Amino acid sequence: MQTESTQVAIIGGGPSGLLLSQLLHKAGIDTIVLERQTRDYVLGRIRAGVLETGFVELLRKSGAGARMDREGEIHHGFHIAHQGRLDRIDLARHAQGQTVMVYGQTEVTRDLYEARDAMGGRVLHEVQDVVLHDLKGAQPHVTFIHDGAERRINATFIVGADGFHGVSRKSIPADILREYEKVYPFGWLGILSETAPAAPELIYARHDRGFALCSMRNSRLSRYYIQVPLSDKAEDWSDDAFWQELKRRLPESVAEQMETGPSIEKSIAPLRSFVAEPMRYGALFLAGDAAHIVPPTGAKGLNLAASDIHYLYEGFADYFLRGEAGGLDTYSAKALARVWKAERFSWWMTSLLHRFPDMSPADLRLQQADLDYLFSSEAAQTSLAENYVGLPY
Ligand code: PHB
Repeated sequence: MQTESTQVAIIGGGPSGLLLSQLLHKAGIDTIVLERQTRDYVLGRIRAGVLETGFVELLRKSGAGARMDREGEIHHGFHIAHQGRLDRIDLARHAQGQTVMVYGQTEVTRDLYEARDAMGGRVLHEVQDVVLHDLKGAQPHVTFIHDGAERRINATFIVGADGFHGVSRKSIPADILREYEKVYPFGWLGILSETAPAAPELIYARHDRGFALCSMRNSRLSRYYIQVPLSDKAEDWSDDAFWQELKRRLPESVAEQMETGPSIEKSIAPLRSFVAEPMRYGALFLAGDAAHIVPPTGAKGLNLAASDIHYLYEGFADYFLRGEAGGLDTYSAKALARVWKAERFSWWMTSLLHRFPDMSPADLRLQQADLDYLFSSEAAQTSLAENYVGLPY
Protein backbone atom coordinates (compact mmCIF):
# COMPACT_ATOMS: atom_id res chain seq x y z
CA MET A 1 0.00 0.00 0.00
CA GLN A 2 1.32 3.45 -0.88
CA THR A 3 1.95 5.29 2.40
CA GLU A 4 2.67 8.97 2.91
CA SER A 5 2.93 11.24 5.94
CA THR A 6 1.70 14.72 6.66
CA GLN A 7 1.25 16.93 9.69
CA VAL A 8 -2.50 17.53 9.22
CA ALA A 9 -4.71 15.29 7.07
CA ILE A 10 -7.86 17.19 6.14
CA ILE A 11 -10.98 15.22 5.20
CA GLY A 12 -13.18 17.36 2.95
CA GLY A 13 -12.33 19.73 0.10
CA GLY A 14 -15.07 22.28 0.67
CA PRO A 15 -14.32 25.85 1.72
CA SER A 16 -13.42 24.92 5.33
CA GLY A 17 -10.89 22.24 4.45
CA LEU A 18 -9.34 24.33 1.67
CA LEU A 19 -9.12 27.45 3.84
CA LEU A 20 -7.39 25.55 6.64
CA SER A 21 -5.01 23.87 4.21
CA GLN A 22 -4.15 27.22 2.66
CA LEU A 23 -3.56 28.96 6.03
CA LEU A 24 -1.43 26.11 7.37
CA HIS A 25 0.65 25.89 4.18
CA LYS A 26 1.40 29.61 4.44
CA ALA A 27 2.63 29.00 8.01
CA GLY A 28 4.89 26.16 6.81
CA ILE A 29 2.68 23.32 8.09
CA ASP A 30 2.10 20.40 5.73
CA THR A 31 -1.40 19.14 4.84
CA ILE A 32 -3.15 16.78 2.44
CA VAL A 33 -6.83 17.33 1.59
CA LEU A 34 -9.06 14.36 0.68
CA GLU A 35 -12.32 15.02 -1.17
CA ARG A 36 -14.94 12.45 -2.16
CA GLN A 37 -16.33 14.42 -5.12
CA THR A 38 -14.81 15.95 -8.26
CA ARG A 39 -13.82 19.60 -8.22
CA ASP A 40 -16.61 20.42 -10.70
CA TYR A 41 -19.16 18.83 -8.38
CA VAL A 42 -17.93 20.85 -5.39
CA LEU A 43 -18.04 24.03 -7.48
CA GLY A 44 -21.58 23.24 -8.64
CA ARG A 45 -23.00 23.48 -5.11
CA ILE A 46 -24.80 26.74 -4.47
CA ARG A 47 -24.69 28.06 -0.93
CA ALA A 48 -25.28 31.38 0.82
CA GLY A 49 -23.46 34.54 -0.09
CA VAL A 50 -23.08 36.75 2.97
CA LEU A 51 -19.63 36.84 4.61
CA GLU A 52 -18.86 38.18 8.08
CA THR A 53 -15.87 40.44 8.63
CA GLY A 54 -14.07 37.60 10.45
CA PHE A 55 -14.40 35.38 7.39
CA VAL A 56 -13.33 38.17 5.05
CA GLU A 57 -10.18 38.74 7.10
CA LEU A 58 -9.37 35.05 7.26
CA LEU A 59 -9.73 34.68 3.47
CA ARG A 60 -7.43 37.66 2.95
CA LYS A 61 -4.90 36.21 5.38
CA SER A 62 -4.96 32.94 3.42
CA GLY A 63 -3.96 34.86 0.30
CA ALA A 64 -7.19 33.99 -1.53
CA GLY A 65 -9.13 37.22 -0.96
CA ALA A 66 -8.17 39.33 -3.99
CA ARG A 67 -11.16 38.53 -6.21
CA MET A 68 -13.56 38.88 -3.28
CA ASP A 69 -12.15 42.34 -2.64
CA ARG A 70 -12.57 43.26 -6.31
CA GLU A 71 -15.96 41.74 -7.03
CA GLY A 72 -17.67 41.38 -3.64
CA GLU A 73 -20.11 44.03 -2.46
CA ILE A 74 -20.01 45.56 0.98
CA HIS A 75 -23.47 45.84 2.52
CA HIS A 76 -24.15 48.30 5.32
CA GLY A 77 -27.63 47.03 6.11
CA PHE A 78 -30.57 44.84 5.10
CA HIS A 79 -34.35 45.01 5.17
CA ILE A 80 -37.12 43.11 6.89
CA ALA A 81 -40.56 43.23 5.26
CA HIS A 82 -43.46 42.62 7.63
CA GLN A 83 -47.08 43.71 8.07
CA GLY A 84 -46.89 45.77 4.86
CA ARG A 85 -43.82 47.68 6.08
CA LEU A 86 -40.24 47.59 4.88
CA ASP A 87 -37.95 48.27 7.85
CA ARG A 88 -34.17 48.53 7.65
CA ILE A 89 -31.46 47.23 9.96
CA ASP A 90 -28.52 49.60 9.80
CA LEU A 91 -25.62 47.25 10.48
CA ALA A 92 -22.89 49.84 10.43
CA ARG A 93 -24.77 52.07 12.87
CA HIS A 94 -25.64 49.32 15.33
CA ALA A 95 -22.49 47.22 15.07
CA GLN A 96 -19.80 49.84 15.44
CA GLY A 97 -19.21 50.36 11.75
CA GLN A 98 -19.06 46.68 10.89
CA THR A 99 -20.55 45.48 7.60
CA VAL A 100 -20.94 42.23 5.66
CA MET A 101 -19.54 41.21 2.26
CA VAL A 102 -21.90 39.81 -0.36
CA TYR A 103 -19.86 37.25 -2.32
CA GLY A 104 -20.99 33.69 -3.11
CA GLN A 105 -19.61 30.71 -1.23
CA THR A 106 -19.12 28.96 -4.55
CA GLU A 107 -16.80 31.78 -5.62
CA VAL A 108 -14.91 31.55 -2.31
CA THR A 109 -14.37 27.84 -2.95
CA ARG A 110 -13.22 28.50 -6.52
CA ASP A 111 -10.71 31.11 -5.28
CA LEU A 112 -9.40 28.72 -2.62
CA TYR A 113 -8.87 25.96 -5.20
CA GLU A 114 -6.91 28.38 -7.35
CA ALA A 115 -4.82 29.48 -4.38
CA ARG A 116 -4.14 25.82 -3.46
CA ASP A 117 -3.08 25.09 -7.06
CA ALA A 118 -0.81 28.14 -7.12
CA MET A 119 0.99 26.99 -3.95
CA GLY A 120 1.21 23.37 -5.09
CA GLY A 121 -1.15 22.23 -2.35
CA ARG A 122 -2.10 18.55 -2.35
CA VAL A 123 -5.84 18.02 -2.85
CA LEU A 124 -6.95 14.52 -3.87
CA HIS A 125 -10.38 14.22 -5.50
CA GLU A 126 -12.72 11.25 -5.92
CA VAL A 127 -11.31 9.58 -2.86
CA GLN A 128 -13.38 6.60 -1.70
CA ASP A 129 -13.80 4.43 1.38
CA VAL A 130 -12.08 6.84 3.76
CA VAL A 131 -11.49 5.23 7.18
CA LEU A 132 -9.95 6.97 10.19
CA HIS A 133 -7.71 4.82 12.42
CA ASP A 134 -6.00 4.94 15.79
CA LEU A 135 -7.42 8.34 16.75
CA LYS A 136 -6.49 7.82 20.41
CA GLY A 137 -3.32 5.86 19.69
CA ALA A 138 0.31 6.40 18.76
CA GLN A 139 -0.12 6.48 14.96
CA PRO A 140 -3.29 8.17 13.76
CA HIS A 141 -3.84 7.50 10.06
CA VAL A 142 -6.35 7.53 7.24
CA THR A 143 -6.84 4.80 4.65
CA PHE A 144 -8.74 5.23 1.39
CA ILE A 145 -8.98 4.26 -2.26
CA HIS A 146 -7.71 6.66 -4.89
CA ASP A 147 -7.31 5.92 -8.62
CA GLY A 148 -8.20 2.31 -7.88
CA ALA A 149 -5.33 1.86 -5.39
CA GLU A 150 -5.39 1.52 -1.61
CA ARG A 151 -3.50 4.31 0.11
CA ARG A 152 -2.55 5.33 3.62
CA ILE A 153 -1.69 8.71 5.11
CA ASN A 154 -0.05 8.92 8.54
CA ALA A 155 -0.79 12.23 10.23
CA THR A 156 -0.11 13.93 13.53
CA PHE A 157 -3.67 15.26 13.43
CA ILE A 158 -6.78 14.70 11.31
CA VAL A 159 -9.37 17.39 10.62
CA GLY A 160 -12.92 16.30 9.77
CA ALA A 161 -14.24 19.05 7.49
CA ASP A 162 -16.36 16.62 5.50
CA GLY A 163 -19.83 17.98 6.13
CA PHE A 164 -22.90 16.67 7.92
CA HIS A 165 -22.91 13.33 6.07
CA GLY A 166 -19.15 12.79 6.27
CA VAL A 167 -17.29 9.90 7.84
CA SER A 168 -15.35 11.94 10.44
CA ARG A 169 -18.04 12.61 13.03
CA LYS A 170 -19.20 8.98 12.73
CA SER A 171 -15.67 7.89 13.69
CA ILE A 172 -16.18 9.23 17.23
CA PRO A 173 -17.57 6.46 19.51
CA ALA A 174 -21.31 6.84 20.20
CA ASP A 175 -20.82 6.80 23.97
CA ILE A 176 -18.62 9.91 23.72
CA LEU A 177 -20.48 11.95 21.11
CA ARG A 178 -23.57 13.93 22.12
CA GLU A 179 -25.80 15.18 19.32
CA TYR A 180 -28.43 17.91 19.60
CA GLU A 181 -30.90 18.40 16.79
CA LYS A 182 -33.93 20.44 15.82
CA VAL A 183 -35.68 19.84 12.51
CA TYR A 184 -37.96 22.54 11.11
CA PRO A 185 -41.26 21.60 9.45
CA PHE A 186 -40.54 23.40 6.15
CA GLY A 187 -37.83 23.92 3.55
CA TRP A 188 -36.46 26.73 1.38
CA LEU A 189 -37.08 26.60 -2.35
CA GLY A 190 -34.28 28.65 -3.92
CA ILE A 191 -33.64 29.88 -7.44
CA LEU A 192 -30.73 31.61 -9.09
CA SER A 193 -31.54 33.85 -12.04
CA GLU A 194 -29.63 36.18 -14.32
CA THR A 195 -31.68 39.21 -13.37
CA ALA A 196 -30.96 42.44 -11.53
CA PRO A 197 -31.49 42.09 -7.75
CA ALA A 198 -34.90 43.26 -6.51
CA ALA A 199 -33.22 45.88 -4.31
CA PRO A 200 -29.67 47.02 -3.56
CA GLU A 201 -29.78 45.31 -0.13
CA LEU A 202 -31.16 41.94 1.01
CA ILE A 203 -34.83 41.73 1.94
CA TYR A 204 -36.04 39.15 4.47
CA ALA A 205 -39.84 38.92 4.38
CA ARG A 206 -42.24 37.60 7.01
CA HIS A 207 -45.64 36.98 5.42
CA ASP A 208 -48.78 35.04 6.30
CA ARG A 209 -48.11 32.83 3.24
CA GLY A 210 -44.59 32.09 4.52
CA PHE A 211 -41.08 33.47 4.57
CA ALA A 212 -39.31 34.89 1.50
CA LEU A 213 -35.80 36.24 0.89
CA CYS A 214 -34.39 38.42 -1.88
CA SER A 215 -30.62 38.01 -2.10
CA MET A 216 -28.01 38.39 -4.79
CA ARG A 217 -24.59 37.43 -6.07
CA ASN A 218 -23.88 40.49 -8.21
CA SER A 219 -25.65 43.18 -10.25
CA ARG A 220 -26.80 40.62 -12.86
CA LEU A 221 -27.31 37.55 -10.68
CA SER A 222 -30.08 37.22 -8.11
CA ARG A 223 -30.84 34.57 -5.52
CA TYR A 224 -34.37 34.21 -4.18
CA TYR A 225 -35.97 31.85 -1.69
CA ILE A 226 -39.49 31.04 -0.52
CA GLN A 227 -40.54 28.85 2.40
CA VAL A 228 -42.30 25.70 1.16
CA PRO A 229 -43.72 22.54 2.80
CA LEU A 230 -41.21 19.69 3.06
CA SER A 231 -43.45 17.60 0.82
CA ASP A 232 -42.93 19.97 -2.15
CA LYS A 233 -40.58 18.99 -5.00
CA ALA A 234 -38.48 21.58 -6.83
CA GLU A 235 -39.41 20.11 -10.21
CA ASP A 236 -43.11 20.72 -9.47
CA TRP A 237 -42.46 24.47 -9.18
CA SER A 238 -42.42 26.20 -12.58
CA ASP A 239 -40.45 29.45 -12.77
CA ASP A 240 -43.75 31.33 -13.23
CA ALA A 241 -45.24 29.76 -10.12
CA PHE A 242 -42.12 30.66 -8.15
CA TRP A 243 -42.09 34.32 -9.22
CA GLN A 244 -45.80 34.64 -8.56
CA GLU A 245 -45.52 33.22 -5.04
CA LEU A 246 -42.41 35.28 -4.26
CA LYS A 247 -44.14 38.49 -5.33
CA ARG A 248 -47.19 37.76 -3.18
CA ARG A 249 -44.93 37.65 -0.10
CA LEU A 250 -43.10 40.91 -0.83
CA PRO A 251 -44.20 44.53 -0.38
CA GLU A 252 -45.99 45.77 -3.53
CA SER A 253 -43.37 48.44 -4.15
CA VAL A 254 -40.70 45.73 -4.44
CA ALA A 255 -42.78 43.17 -6.33
CA GLU A 256 -43.98 45.67 -8.95
CA GLN A 257 -40.57 46.62 -10.25
CA MET A 258 -38.84 43.28 -9.82
CA GLU A 259 -37.08 41.82 -12.87
CA THR A 260 -37.96 38.17 -13.49
CA GLY A 261 -36.47 35.63 -15.89
CA PRO A 262 -35.63 31.96 -16.30
CA SER A 263 -34.05 30.20 -13.33
CA ILE A 264 -30.58 28.73 -13.86
CA GLU A 265 -30.78 26.65 -10.68
CA LYS A 266 -33.71 25.55 -8.54
CA SER A 267 -33.58 23.37 -5.44
CA ILE A 268 -35.16 22.77 -2.05
CA ALA A 269 -33.11 22.74 1.15
CA PRO A 270 -34.46 21.43 4.46
CA LEU A 271 -33.80 23.49 7.61
CA ARG A 272 -32.03 22.00 10.58
CA SER A 273 -30.22 23.01 13.75
CA PHE A 274 -27.60 20.46 14.81
CA VAL A 275 -24.60 20.39 17.16
CA ALA A 276 -22.24 17.52 17.99
CA GLU A 277 -20.11 17.67 21.14
CA PRO A 278 -17.22 17.43 21.74
CA MET A 279 -15.53 18.69 18.57
CA ARG A 280 -12.31 16.83 19.37
CA TYR A 281 -11.64 13.13 19.87
CA GLY A 282 -7.96 12.29 20.29
CA ALA A 283 -6.16 13.28 17.09
CA LEU A 284 -9.43 14.15 15.29
CA PHE A 285 -10.84 17.70 15.18
CA LEU A 286 -14.25 18.38 13.64
CA ALA A 287 -14.89 21.65 11.80
CA GLY A 288 -17.87 23.23 10.03
CA ASP A 289 -20.92 21.20 8.99
CA ALA A 290 -19.31 17.97 10.24
CA ALA A 291 -19.99 19.28 13.76
CA HIS A 292 -22.86 21.72 13.38
CA ILE A 293 -25.65 22.81 11.05
CA VAL A 294 -27.64 26.03 11.26
CA PRO A 295 -30.83 26.87 9.35
CA PRO A 296 -29.89 29.29 6.53
CA THR A 297 -31.74 32.32 7.95
CA GLY A 298 -28.92 34.78 8.66
CA ALA A 299 -26.38 32.92 6.47
CA LYS A 300 -24.24 31.65 9.34
CA GLY A 301 -23.18 28.24 7.93
CA LEU A 302 -19.88 29.12 6.25
CA ASN A 303 -19.20 31.93 8.70
CA LEU A 304 -19.45 29.52 11.61
CA ALA A 305 -17.10 27.09 9.88
CA ALA A 306 -14.65 29.97 9.55
CA SER A 307 -14.39 30.54 13.31
CA ASP A 308 -13.66 26.80 13.75
CA ILE A 309 -10.93 27.13 11.14
CA HIS A 310 -9.52 30.20 12.88
CA TYR A 311 -9.28 28.41 16.26
CA LEU A 312 -7.82 25.30 14.61
CA TYR A 313 -5.27 27.31 12.65
CA GLU A 314 -4.12 29.06 15.84
CA GLY A 315 -4.00 25.73 17.70
CA PHE A 316 -1.93 23.99 15.01
CA ALA A 317 0.40 26.99 14.68
CA ASP A 318 0.96 26.93 18.48
CA TYR A 319 1.61 23.21 18.37
CA PHE A 320 3.87 22.91 15.33
CA LEU A 321 5.66 26.26 15.45
CA ARG A 322 5.90 26.86 19.20
CA GLY A 323 5.52 23.41 20.73
CA GLU A 324 2.45 24.39 22.76
CA ALA A 325 -0.61 22.13 22.85
CA GLY A 326 -2.86 24.50 24.82
CA GLY A 327 -4.71 25.94 21.81
CA LEU A 328 -5.65 22.46 20.59
CA ASP A 329 -6.69 21.35 24.08
CA THR A 330 -9.17 24.22 24.37
CA TYR A 331 -10.37 24.01 20.74
CA SER A 332 -13.62 22.15 21.36
CA ALA A 333 -14.76 24.36 24.24
CA LYS A 334 -13.84 27.60 22.47
CA ALA A 335 -15.45 26.61 19.16
CA LEU A 336 -18.62 25.32 20.82
CA ALA A 337 -19.13 28.52 22.83
CA ARG A 338 -19.38 30.46 19.56
CA VAL A 339 -21.28 27.68 17.78
CA TRP A 340 -24.12 27.72 20.31
CA LYS A 341 -24.49 31.48 20.06
CA ALA A 342 -24.76 31.26 16.27
CA GLU A 343 -27.23 28.37 16.69
CA ARG A 344 -29.31 30.57 18.98
CA PHE A 345 -29.25 33.46 16.53
CA SER A 346 -30.13 31.33 13.47
CA TRP A 347 -32.95 29.64 15.38
CA TRP A 348 -34.27 33.03 16.59
CA MET A 349 -34.18 34.60 13.14
CA THR A 350 -35.86 31.51 11.67
CA SER A 351 -38.58 31.61 14.36
CA LEU A 352 -39.10 35.33 13.87
CA LEU A 353 -39.72 35.16 10.12
CA HIS A 354 -41.26 31.80 9.22
CA ARG A 355 -44.82 30.58 9.28
CA PHE A 356 -44.85 27.38 11.36
CA PRO A 357 -47.68 24.99 10.42
CA ASP A 358 -48.96 24.66 14.00
CA MET A 359 -48.98 28.35 14.93
CA SER A 360 -51.94 29.44 17.04
CA PRO A 361 -53.39 32.98 16.81
CA ALA A 362 -51.45 33.74 20.02
CA ASP A 363 -48.19 32.52 18.44
CA LEU A 364 -48.79 34.80 15.46
CA ARG A 365 -49.39 37.84 17.65
CA LEU A 366 -46.26 37.06 19.66
CA GLN A 367 -44.25 36.83 16.44
CA GLN A 368 -45.59 40.21 15.31
CA ALA A 369 -44.81 41.68 18.71
CA ASP A 370 -41.24 40.38 18.42
CA LEU A 371 -40.90 42.31 15.12
CA ASP A 372 -42.59 45.44 16.48
CA TYR A 373 -40.26 45.35 19.48
CA LEU A 374 -37.24 44.91 17.21
CA PHE A 375 -37.97 48.06 15.24
CA SER A 376 -38.93 50.11 18.30
CA SER A 377 -35.80 49.27 20.29
CA GLU A 378 -32.25 50.38 19.60
CA ALA A 379 -31.08 47.61 21.96
CA ALA A 380 -32.92 44.92 19.97
CA GLN A 381 -31.53 46.23 16.67
CA THR A 382 -28.05 46.29 18.19
CA SER A 383 -28.47 42.67 19.24
CA LEU A 384 -29.57 41.63 15.74
CA ALA A 385 -26.83 43.67 14.07
CA GLU A 386 -23.97 42.39 16.23
CA ASN A 387 -25.01 38.81 15.57
CA TYR A 388 -25.57 39.38 11.84
CA VAL A 389 -22.12 40.88 11.25
CA GLY A 390 -20.70 38.07 13.39
CA LEU A 391 -19.78 37.72 17.06
CA PRO A 392 -16.07 38.09 17.82
CA TYR A 393 -13.81 35.01 17.58
C1 PHB B 1 -28.06 33.72 -0.05
O1 PHB B 1 -27.71 34.69 -0.73
O2 PHB B 1 -28.07 32.59 -0.54
C2 PHB B 1 -28.48 33.91 1.35
C3 PHB B 1 -28.39 35.19 1.91
C4 PHB B 1 -28.79 35.40 3.20
C5 PHB B 1 -29.29 34.37 3.96
C6 PHB B 1 -29.36 33.09 3.42
C7 PHB B 1 -28.96 32.87 2.11
O3 PHB B 1 -29.69 34.59 5.22
